[in-house]
Parts: sequence; structure tokens; C-alpha cells
Amino acid sequence: MRRLSFTTAGESHGPNLTVILSGLPAGLKVQTELLNDDLARRQHGYGRGGRMKIERDAAVLTGGIRGGETLGGPISLEVQNRDFAVWEPVMSPVRIDPDAARKRALTSPRPGHADLAGGLKYRRRDLRDILERASARESAARVAAGSLCRMLLLHFGIQIRSGVLSIGSVRCPLPKGGVSFSLLSDVDESSPLRLVDRTVEADAIRLIDLGFKEGDTLGGSILVGARGVPPGLGSHVAWDEKLDGRIAQAMLSIPSVKAVSLGDGIENAFRFGSEAHDAIEFDPRHGFTRPTNRAGGLEGGITNGQDILVTLFQKPISTLRNGLPSVDIETKEPVRAQYERSDVTAVPACGVIGEAMLALILADAFLAKTGGDSLEEVAENYQAFMAAQRAY
Ligand SMILES: Cc1cc2nc3c(=O)[nH]c(=O)nc-3n(C[C@H](O)[C@H](O)[C@H](O)COP(=O)(O)O)c2cc1C
Repeated sequence: MRRLSFTTAGESHGPNLTVILSGLPAGLKVQTELLNDDLARRQHGYGRGGRMKIERDAAVLTGGIRGGETLGGPISLEVQNRDFAVWEPVMSPVRIDPDAARKRALTSPRPGHADLAGGLKYRRRDLRDILERASARESAARVAAGSLCRMLLLHFGIQIRSGVLSIGSVRCPLPKGGVSFSLLSDVDESSPLRLVDRTVEADAIRLIDLGFKEGDTLGGSILVGARGVPPGLGSHVAWDEKLDGRIAQAMLSIPSVKAVSLGDGIENAFRFGSEAHDAIEFDPRHGFTRPTNRAGGLEGGITNGQDILVTLFQKPISTLRNGLPSVDIETKEPVRAQYERSDVTAVPACGVIGEAMLALILADAFLAKTGGDSLEEVAENYQAFMAAQRAY
């Protein structure tokens, strides 16, 4: 059963990005400054390209909220693209200047992008028609929607955080037990790379500088976690209700995220079963507890009350300054793929988008479990549910 849904619209250099988020209960306080903080966090990070220096993302709330409180209907908001001022002759939804559009046309598809596959599918000969929507600029809209969900989750004591584990070959040293939510508590949001351990920050910056000098790019890995999640979200009864599957799908929908591991998902494949699972214990004060959290808070597609831990693996940015080998779609001649202003790496930003996607999935599963049209009703249902858990 689904409660929340959201749709985004808009192109990278179009007038703005739009989000419609449906399903939040009435009476939730919307803190615009938190929303704009999340949007700003997505823009930061050492290794970003020129675009992020132009944009100053801020949400303009346009529907579903009155006087700072949700009304229970669909919420709409917009994030302006400042760069549209320059791109209007090329990207106006109403009328474009054919000469300007020709100068900005993309006919040499960039490997690792949607350019060629999208052009073939949608029969577009200017691959800008694909690039503009496939661009990760769209993720600003997701971050705004996720931020609203984060406000709901925070109301019920659920926090979501992320931190960078590695950039290219530079990895943060991990404690013996591997990843945990406590690694995320120490992430310095104002640091250039949002690493879980800043002792490798200088090495990572050196590697990014080298990438920039060589016209090359880097990916990395990020831990996204949630704490305070009650047991019982998601379900084992149907394939598409399994929350592990839904979280993985949401994370893989982030541009350039190519693999996801839940808890010790990858490491467990190389272990004996006796070293891979989390024993069940009971104490009268805390109820059921676990000495470890290798499952990352999910068993059988249901939250088990432990922290949710998700590691995302991001491929290196696909646009290289010197252009990878490609073919011009008009002449069919070999060419270098066109260069479009680009990041060297965007791993720290990817973590912020991961937080938003986790917030969207968890808020949906939370509301599906509790039901309720108003925040008060959700709270009553949540308390009854938690009382039943304690009495189990
Ligand atoms: C925050 C963020 C910023 C990105 N910035 C760029 C960029 O500047 N240049 C680029 O080529 N790809 C960038 N990407 C990755 C592309 O959007 C992505 O690789 C492309 O759309 C193809 O999708 P896929 O990698 O999921 O197949 C970025 C991804 C994220 C998450």
C-alpha cells in the first residue's frame, strides 16, 4: 500500500524545476529554512563545476501549505534555474531562437549519459532534448520533496544522515565493526567533502585536483542511514512491498548510482552465515535487541527497529573534458563526445540526494503503517502501534 507519491518536472536549463508531493497529512509544520538548507547542502562539495556557482537554490512554495502548515492536499513547489536567464533563447518552453539552439545542439553523444539511448528511444536529433531532463539538476527537486518528508519523520524522532566513505581510490578507514550510524553523527556538514573521517580529506582533495588537471573525473561511495525507525515498516508479503527492494530502487534511480548495499550486504556474501547475521536478545527494559547490525535494519523487507544503513556506489562523472570516443549521429563519423560544463566529482551531493530518497521511502512506509489524514491522527495511530510493539 502506498501513501506518498511525488512527481518532478523541468529541464536543467529550463525556467525552473517543479515538484508535486501528495500524501502528507494536514498540520505538519513546514520549516522553509530547513528545506533551503537541504537544497544548499546538495550544491556544496569540493570538485563541483561552474554551474553550482551560478545557482542559489531556494524553494518557492506554491500549493498545499498555508501559513507554514500543510493542508493535506498535494504540495507544489518550484526551484528556479538562474541559468535560464542565459539559456532562454535555447530552452524557452514557448519559442526558441533556431540559430542559438543550433549552436547549443548536441549531436555527439557522451558515453555514460542517456544521450544516445534517449535519442534513439524518443527519436530526437538534438540530443540536448535528452540531456536536459536526464541531468542530475532534477535531483534538486527530489531534495526539496525529501526535505518535507524529513520534517514528518523528525516529528516522530526519525533522523536521516549521510557521509562520504570514499572518493575514487581514497577510502576512509572504518572501525572493526564496519559501517554504523554513529559514523554519520560526526560528519562535518561544512567540510568540503562531508567525509566520515577527515583524516583522508587532504588525500581526497589532492586526487580531485589531479582529476581536474587531467580532465578526468571520480566517483565514490556514501553511507546513508536512518535512526529511530520503528520496527514494522515495509512487508514480506509481496515483492513490491519489501522495503529493502524499494530503498534499493530509490537509490539506484539517483543519476550515476550503480550499486547499493544494505548493511553488510556486500561483505556478507564472502562470509559464513555464523558471521553474517544479527543474534536476537531480549532485555526487559529495551525489549528485543541485537548485538550487531549487519542486516542494516531490514529483515524480510521489514524494518526491525535497528538503524537503517545503506551504502551507495557512484560511478565517476561521465562527462570528460577531452571527450570520450563517440560518433556524430548526423555524419556517423567518429568524434570526441561533446563537453558540457561538468563536475569532477559530486559524491558529497549524492549523499544529500540519498538522504532525500530514503526520507521519501521511509515517510511513505511510515504513513502506510500508521494511516491518518492529520498529524494528530498519525500520532495517535503511531502511539497505539508502538504500545502494541512494547506489549508484544
Ligand atoms: C549530484 C550529481 C551531480 C552530477 N553532475 C554531473 C556532471 O556535472 N556531469 C556529468 O556528466 N554527470 C553528472 N552526474 C551524473 C549524471 O547525471 C549521470 O551519470 C547521467 O545522467 C547518466 O545516468 P546514469 O549514470 O544513472 O546511467 C551527476 C550526478 C549527481 C548525482
